[in-house]
Parts: sequence; structure tokens; C-alpha cells
Amino acid sequence: MSTHIAAAPGQIAPIVLFPGDPLRAKWIAETFLEGAELYSQTRGMLGYTGTWQGTRVSVQGSGMGQPSMAIYANEMFEAYDVQTVVRVGSCGALTENLAMRDIIIANGACTDSGINRIRFHGLDYAPVADFSLLRAAVEASEREPVASAVHVGLLLSSDQFYSTRPELNEPFVRHGVLGVEMETSGLYTLAAYYGRRALSICTVSDNLVTGEETTAQEREQTFGDMIRIALQAATA
Ligand code: HPA
Repeated sequence: MSTHIAAAPGQIAPIVLFPGDPLRAKWIAETFLEGAELYSQTRGMLGYTGTWQGTRVSVQGSGMGQPSMAIYANEMFEAYDVQTVVRVGSCGALTENLAMRDIIIANGACTDSGINRIRFHGLDYAPVADFSLLRAAVEASEREPVASAVHVGLLLSSDQFYSTRPELNEPFVRHGVLGVEMETSGLYTLAAYYGRRALSICTVSDNLVTGEETTAQEREQTFGDMIRIALQAATA
């Protein structure tokens, strides 16, 4: 047992899908895994282990934002020897060229957070995806019948969902960043620190340019294509 996860050693699989929303973790476990069992509900952050096509897979909620996500990622890597983490999340599109429910496979992540500034003594680290997972996810997206367009590119991991200065996104957009979410930069950094594999895949749930958005229920339940890509990449 670790401080924020109530699992016994061995109860968490070496492969973890990592959504922000604990209820999405429940939905993924019930929809995609066989024999899924709840291993933790500390602070309502649900975690399940089952099997997918014969391979043990866990699904752990991360909460929103890098501080919450980092608590669970640190404990999964440190206390449970987790080897592979695939974040399955939502993001806001930063350009009109992306449609609702398009999928972004993040090859790297920028951030406005101070977390890595502290970690790297004020210098800038470049958090990137594990290449084997990235390649497997792209291959899965080419093999699978996927209803929406799949993009590979950068995310911006922001500390503020309700930003008081949205114009701060502009230089990131100008330099090709596709979407904004709140966790990937920290996840890629921690995976690098522990020598583990991480990838972040996000479905577009809203568009900051056009103002379009999906409902909370759609966010929870319509991300099946992304989950299938994530499961294939993680178990490849
Ligand atoms: N901002 C930050 N995180 C998000 C957004 C957003 O617009 N949409 C989904 N996750």
C-alpha cells in the first residue's frame, strides 16, 4: 500500500491506462477489461485490474492537473513497479483544423506549469513520449477502424483550466501545438525519471477557437476508439 493507493503489492498490473476522471476509469474497466476488480478507492480515485486479450491491464484515475496526476504516477512507478502508462484523456483544440473527437497522440508536451522549472533549477526540459509506444499507437490507429482523424503532435499541459490570460496560448499555437490539457508534461517527465514508458492520447472535447464542446456524458462514454488504440499500443 502506498499513501494514496490502497492496492497490495502485485495488485496493479505492469501496464496502466491512466484517465483523469475516476468514473472514466470505472467505465473503461467495465467496458474493455475481463474480470476487472477494484483495487483502490482512496479519495474516490478508482483503480481496477483485469485482463485485455489475455494481458493484465490496470486502469487508474489520475485526477486533474499535474500535481494530482504526479501523486498517482510517482506511487505507481515507485511502489508498484508499473512499467507502461498510457494517459487517455480529453483536450481542448487550439486550432480550427481539429474537429470534435479527433484524437491527438502526443509526441511531446509544453507547459505553463512551474513544476519542471523547480525540478530543473529554472532550465527547460523537453518531455517526450516513449517512442515504442508512440509508434505502436500510430500503427494501431492505422489498423483499427477509427471514426475520427488521428493527429500526432504537441500538447500544452496547462495549470489553469479557467485561464485569465488565454493570449498566453498564442505563441504555442504559432509553434504548432495542437491542444491543451493538464497532465502530459508531468507524466512524460516522471516516466523519464523512473526509466519507464509513457504515452498520452487525448480526444478533443472542446475547441478554444470555435467554442464547440461535448457534454460531460459524451466525454465519459464516447472515447472508445482512443481506448482501443491505447490498449493495443500498451500491450504491443
Ligand atoms: N483546457 C485544459 N484542459 C482541458 C481542456 C481545456 O480546454 N479541455 C479538456 N481538457
